[in-house]
Amino acid sequence: MRKIAILFLMTLTALAATSSTTQPLSAVVTFDSQVTHPAGSQAPGNQYIFFGAHAKPGDKESDDPAMNLSKLTDFNVTTRGRMIPANPASPQYAKVIAPGGAPVVNTGLLYNGGQPNTYRDFATFRITNPAVTSFSVWVLDSTLKSTANGNAGLAFRINGGDPVATCATVRAAFSNEFTRFIVTGASICDVFTIAVLGGTNNSFLSIAGLTFEVIPDPAMAGKKNALVEQPGWLDLNKNGEKDIYEDPTQPLEKRIKNLLKQMTQEEKVGQLNQLVLGRRQDDVKLFPLMRKGEVSSYIWTTTDPALRNQFQRIAVHQSRLGIPIIFGMDMIHGTSTLFPIALGLACSFEPTLLERAQSVSARESRAEGVEWVFAPMCDLARDPRWGRVAETSGEDPYLSALCNAAQVRGFQGTNPAAPDRVAACLKHFVGYSAVTGGRDYNDSEITEWTLRNMHLPSFHAGVKAGVLTLMSSFNTIGGIPAVANHHALTDILRNEWGFTGYVVSDWESVKEMIPWGYAKDKADATRLALNAGNDMDMKAEAYVPNLANEIKAGRVTQATMDEAVRRVLRVKFQVGLFDQPYVDEAAYKPAQKKPEDLALARECVTKSTVLIKNTGVLPLGKAIKKIALIGPVGDDHREILGCWAGRCSWSEPTLASALKAALPQETTLTVVKGCSINTLPGTKTLQDGRIVPDESAPPTDADLKIDEAVQAAKDADVVIMAIGEPKGWTGENASRAFLTLSGNQQALFDAVAATGKPVVAIIFSGRPLALPAVWEKAAAVLYAWQPGSEAGNGLADLLLGKVSPSARLSMSVPRDVAQVPIFYNHYNTGRPRSGQYRDMKDMDAKFWFGYGLTYTTFEYSPVRLIPSTNDKPAEAVVTVANTGKREGIEVVQMYIRQLVCHVGARPKQELRGFKRVALKPGEKADVSFPLTGEVLGFTTLDGKWQVDAGEYQVWIAPHAQDGTPVSYIHN
Ligand code: NOJ
Repeated sequence: MRKIAILFLMTLTALAATSSTTQPLSAVVTFDSQVTHPAGSQAPGNQYIFFGAHAKPGDKESDDPAMNLSKLTDFNVTTRGRMIPANPASPQYAKVIAPGGAPVVNTGLLYNGGQPNTYRDFATFRITNPAVTSFSVWVLDSTLKSTANGNAGLAFRINGGDPVATCATVRAAFSNEFTRFIVTGASICDVFTIAVLGGTNNSFLSIAGLTFEVIPDPAMAGKKNALVEQPGWLDLNKNGEKDIYEDPTQPLEKRIKNLLKQMTQEEKVGQLNQLVLGRRQDDVKLFPLMRKGEVSSYIWTTTDPALRNQFQRIAVHQSRLGIPIIFGMDMIHGTSTLFPIALGLACSFEPTLLERAQSVSARESRAEGVEWVFAPMCDLARDPRWGRVAETSGEDPYLSALCNAAQVRGFQGTNPAAPDRVAACLKHFVGYSAVTGGRDYNDSEITEWTLRNMHLPSFHAGVKAGVLTLMSSFNTIGGIPAVANHHALTDILRNEWGFTGYVVSDWESVKEMIPWGYAKDKADATRLALNAGNDMDMKAEAYVPNLANEIKAGRVTQATMDEAVRRVLRVKFQVGLFDQPYVDEAAYKPAQKKPEDLALARECVTKSTVLIKNTGVLPLGKAIKKIALIGPVGDDHREILGCWAGRCSWSEPTLASALKAALPQETTLTVVKGCSINTLPGTKTLQDGRIVPDESAPPTDADLKIDEAVQAAKDADVVIMAIGEPKGWTGENASRAFLTLSGNQQALFDAVAATGKPVVAIIFSGRPLALPAVWEKAAAVLYAWQPGSEAGNGLADLLLGKVSPSARLSMSVPRDVAQVPIFYNHYNTGRPRSGQYRDMKDMDAKFWFGYGLTYTTFEYSPVRLIPSTNDKPAEAVVTVANTGKREGIEVVQMYIRQLVCHVGARPKQELRGFKRVALKPGEKADVSFPLTGEVLGFTTLDGKWQVDAGEYQVWIAPHAQDGTPVSYIHN
């Protein structure tokens, strides 16, 4: 066999120049073509990937047990290409011989080189074992040929650079030859790529397998500083000694102090810098930054824990002090297992449910390589036009505080360093939800009184629950951007509340102070944000180039920066990164959902869906034999997941398939979409054939089939309509002017309702919608929000009465968008019965906060007050009786009002207690609430909790607008 040896030297000067570690940073690639694979290459120690007939791109090994393949342990490989059809008659069918001589007849992966003289990547890999610096990779190909000229070939690239070695040999089909690339002096995390070079015509390559052979590096043997990993600790600064900061047994503050002392100014600034990372070729540009210690955190936009570990290894092994990166991501209501959106979960009035849900999310997030989640969202939802109300726990500060503290506990547990816990992040601090007109990213005007008593309690509760981080918000308050709001970030958060974690800005909000008109340039913005107390810069890249200069110029003090760095390091220690910077790659199973997690998600759906109307049609009785399921969400796999759908884009089952499975065999279910969730903009076709949007053209809806829906309704005993708004109209940057059904859904509903058949409407949305015709004409309405992975099963449980609804609205539903912002805890005003709109007599919401029905009925006795004794506070008690025929859960709610308050008038009603009470038919229970200072008080303008003596009103009621208040005198 002909043997060619070509030596290519790649000097990665930029990389080498920046490192002071013992790891070599330039790789040498030797290229060997058409070599004989050495005998015994299947010996333990060598690692193989083959592409079997059943293998998919990305698989690490064939599923053919006869090949006896070992798992790759030192390399992480991804491949691109297309499988050769498993048809032995096909000319492209690869027949190759595996190393060791065993014939492999069902293997092959074709890569068509395509364009002449260009290359396309076939396999990309990184070293995962820091001890590996030299290796060879054998490419076993069955065919490498071009039909027109000879320059098709294999190429080898390092870190996305140009090919460093190519083979320009045309081979006979099915040649079964090996090409070997020998790499020495490699550095962990370098990205190696095997590419295919195109010939002038239809060149292609079929690759059957890759063999990796680690070459022991004699230069590394016995070297004192060769490895960071030491038994029980990490030699992060690679000095061969256990420094205090590296010693897991040392106290936290001592470790921080020891590390800070060793840091240069540049390294300190780097700890305040957060960038974004995904699986992109140009991620290699981040390597030098990491080696200099310029990256503290990544927003981790992908899921591969192995890739995440690669990047972490650069920080740990190749930066001077080895400070690990903290990986953060938005896990708002789950990542693999999706729960209902927070607005829905809050309707459960069961904070421990949110805690349980977020503990699942914590475990799944950590397994994906995320140790920091950007949740919970503590903003107060008062304006449904604002798309982000979906992420909140609703309009009430008391309920929201309990829900958010519970989420913090769910995420962090008692030890955020545990492998199934993460650091939480309260956001957005503060006032983001009060944006003018509900328009995202806007200004807010909030008085200190409202800030203290409405917007802050939920954040304060999260801080008291031990949250490790906060995110500042995009809005201004009184012209001051939140990222530069010293009053909020320092006076309140640090000085009053004693918060010791760090604050990250929102996405580029440091530099957004420039278009706001508050900062002159990035340097100015850096000074303003850091001095205000915003520690980490998300994505704006303002701090790194400017902060050291600002300190030099005396505009930011060294102490201010050191304190910010201390806070960031503290959290990194608290989540355990200094002791275990890597995630367990083997434990990660992509998108695998555990049955017990799905069961919890299902429970969450049943406890979050609010029954707001029922004329008796629900639960669906046995007499119903024909059901029509109509509407765009009925058989949809995506909309039900909601905004911020984690890593999940597809849900199984749908409502249709879950219902089908749950219904008795003799019941028929006809599913008709009827229309799209949304219409598409009108388009026009240009002369060159391009199709572009055209505002003058009517919108299109390819799914519009109202007649078919009407016919299905006529043929049915009962109709279920699954309607709402697109998930893309909820969440960030998704404000709405109208609170209507989107697209043609209203017309669809009206036509179906006009058949006279009983309609059960299920509303899927991220906000309260104002749907007067639905409220009036539907026989029953379930408000499902965006229910997540188990939408179908959970809703089937409710529809069929397997579970009774028990949720209550966490946000009031207005009659019309003209009323918003609308919330139950408004002021009494000086003229409570005046001030109505001239053209809308009813000032009330359609359904107030706290409202919700179930399949039974409850009666409340008048409230009884029990005076305080020496060892017990006063109590308000009510007797609640189940007066219906089914068992049910009543959410008993206590509201208070302080009649005279000289610090500021207090709202007309404030929720200060609730209990979920389960009662059997005919059963009664006394439900009591203590009237303590904690329940009755408020926050003064300087942040003190104050409880006034005097008269209060107390309601115990099924929702905010029900019940008769009793007078209570607090002494
Ligand atoms: C912007 C959003 O406002 C925030 O909630 C989110 O956490 C960040 N982007 C990061 O994705």
